[in-house]
Amino acid sequence: MSNRPYIVGNWKMHGTRAMLAEARAIDRAAERLLKVEVALAPPFTLIHATRKEANLIGIGAQDVHSADGGAHTGDISAAMVKDAGAGFTIVGHSERRANHGETNALVKEKAEAAIAAGMNVIVCVGETEEERDAGKAESAVADQLASSVPVGDGVAEKVTIAYEPVWAIGTGRTPTAEDVGAMHRHIREKLGSLYGEEGADVRILYGGSVKPDNAAELLTADDVGGALVGGASLTAESFLGIIMAAAEAHEDKS
Ligand code: PGA
Repeated sequence: MSNRPYIVGNWKMHGTRAMLAEARAIDRAAERLLKVEVALAPPFTLIHATRKEANLIGIGAQDVHSADGGAHTGDISAAMVKDAGAGFTIVGHSERRANHGETNALVKEKAEAAIAAGMNVIVCVGETEEERDAGKAESAVADQLASSVPVGDGVAEKVTIAYEPVWAIGTGRTPTAEDVGAMHRHIREKLGSLYGEEGADVRILYGGSVKPDNAAELLTADDVGGALVGGASLTAESFLGIIMAAAEAHEDKS
């Protein structure tokens, strides 16, 4: 596992070509911050243009269909986003699970399709507020990991996990660093069951209301390998604040 922090911006359903200037600025700054691995997941419509604008940062998709192609009006396959310039895709984001009824089984199929197409995947897991209040956060995440994370020979190195508590996404609320650390240790243990020794090298990102002013604290929690950032990735200014906090946190750790 690269031990550089991995900071990924998820632009969600934001961005027209006017936003390419932000991607360019993020890419330029990333050249000076090589201690951090930076990536952006713009909407499908901007993947190709963002790839052309940005030399250094990773570019990914926010979702793919589980099939290679066919009669699926409005859907996009892994081969298509790869052809457009994506090197990875997010799968199983809680907004897809909630808004599109995506099940663990479907998320796993999507991850498998992306890996078969030669891409890396970021698989999102995270509990709802009700599950946390009921003391079921760890078991909810364990269920998602067991059923939505792809397994098999050579798969672990293609996979990143993003732990995103649903109640922290876009709300400005975050778990404490202790809670994040506890969940990441729990996820690490489950990755050991899924992948054996290789599970130790899978990166685990935290996501949910990461901002420049809380990034350092969240990124230094136990076993946090980076962040998946929504709202604060939409401008170069705030995203770079997080990337710089990650660079500093990494220096303090090493
Ligand atoms: P947020 O979103 O940073 O806006 O909370 C994170 C995500 O959904 O990946």
